[in-house]
Amino acid sequence: MTSSRNAINIEDLRQLARRRIARIVFDYIDGGVEDEAGLLRNREAFSRWRLVPHYLQDISRRQQTASLFGRDYASPFGIAPTGLAAFAHPGADLLLAQAAAEANVPFIMSGAATASIEQVMAVAPRHAWFQLYVSRETAVTEDLIRRAAAAGVETLVLTVDVPVHSKRERDWRNGFVPPVKPSMSCVLDMLCHPRWLAGLLRHGLPRFENWAPYAGDKASARDIAAYFTSQIPFTQTWFDLERIRRVWAGKLVLKGVLAPTDALRALDCGVDGVIVSNHGGRQLDCAPAPLEMLPAIRAAVAGQMTVMLDGGIRRGSDILKAWALGADFTFVGRPALYGVAADGLPGAQRALQILQQEIDLTLAQLGCGDLGMLTGELLREGW
Ligand SMILES: Cc1cc2nc3c(=O)[nH]c(=O)nc-3n(C[C@H](O)[C@H](O)[C@H](O)COP(=O)(O)O)c2cc1C
Repeated sequence: MTSSRNAINIEDLRQLARRRIARIVFDYIDGGVEDEAGLLRNREAFSRWRLVPHYLQDISRRQQTASLFGRDYASPFGIAPTGLAAFAHPGADLLLAQAAAEANVPFIMSGAATASIEQVMAVAPRHAWFQLYVSRETAVTEDLIRRAAAAGVETLVLTVDVPVHSKRERDWRNGFVPPVKPSMSCVLDMLCHPRWLAGLLRHGLPRFENWAPYAGDKASARDIAAYFTSQIPFTQTWFDLERIRRVWAGKLVLKGVLAPTDALRALDCGVDGVIVSNHGGRQLDCAPAPLEMLPAIRAAVAGQMTVMLDGGIRRGSDILKAWALGADFTFVGRPALYGVAADGLPGAQRALQILQQEIDLTLAQLGCGDLGMLTGELLREGW
């Protein structure tokens, strides 16, 4: 397979991405933390569940629209925030934002994005959310929040599951940790991907654009990266969340919640929603899969806040399983990244189309004309 157009599933896009981009970047995207047990667990959690088909239903008209925070989206999933995406393909953040806007699904731009809030909002003014990493300097955090509001962001996502840089062993081996110093075998591998390398050299080293204004005049990409890593991660507490709630008037979402008590505390702080997530198996390797924790979190907050989920979704049916288990919405990280890494904008578009088509076909098999008909009664736990 040479083009993302021929990709039949997300794994095809993953394989295409593996061939197209240098190993140091593929490993950064594809990898997890330590033994990568959490990565595997996220997938296994989905395979434990079955969906029982119901036939002889009129499924001639089907739709998969879902509402979230007062907006109607074409599908019950969006694109999760992923930092440093431009290493996979030049301008990847903007291409992902464009693909999401065209498909009418939300796009969460990362706090470690390589495009600025203002650039992303120009591409996807109604679809982009902003994920915030709290800076050591309160003035910087508050300026990022101010910029997001000024650019028209409606939903702010605060990621809470990065208290420290985790032990991502593929990145440690490859030298993809700050300050980036590729291993010799990675340098040789980069030379074997001339098209990818030419794109990187033509567009220059990706920069943490949002952080550039705070890193000093004339700061290079390396200076900005050094500034960013001096600010993040940093010990944030519930006190920081309360402060952010006071200064941010829009919707506020907490990302990386796995404990029902944390979800309840977030509710107390006036948070509008949580994304149940283990950062795609990239932070605490022995953390439960988000899907495992979803029912308990759903029960704890008892409909008082929006409960979303990400981690391990590779099929449309996974999204429907999460929905049936109580998710109000879902997000995908790597599937969209594999797409954009494989083939830029067409690849990102293909990733979204594949998931949308799989959702549609699965709904038909389940005898559901829409998501409202998809209830927990269709679920069966397997062995
Ligand atoms: C390469 C990569 C970079 C990521 N960067 C961020 C980030 O900057 N902020 C964040 O909140 N989550 C980040 N995540 C986590 C994703 O938002 C999401 O939780 C995860 O990818 C979901 O799992 P999935 O990839 O299996 O869909 C990143 C994930 C990947 C794979």
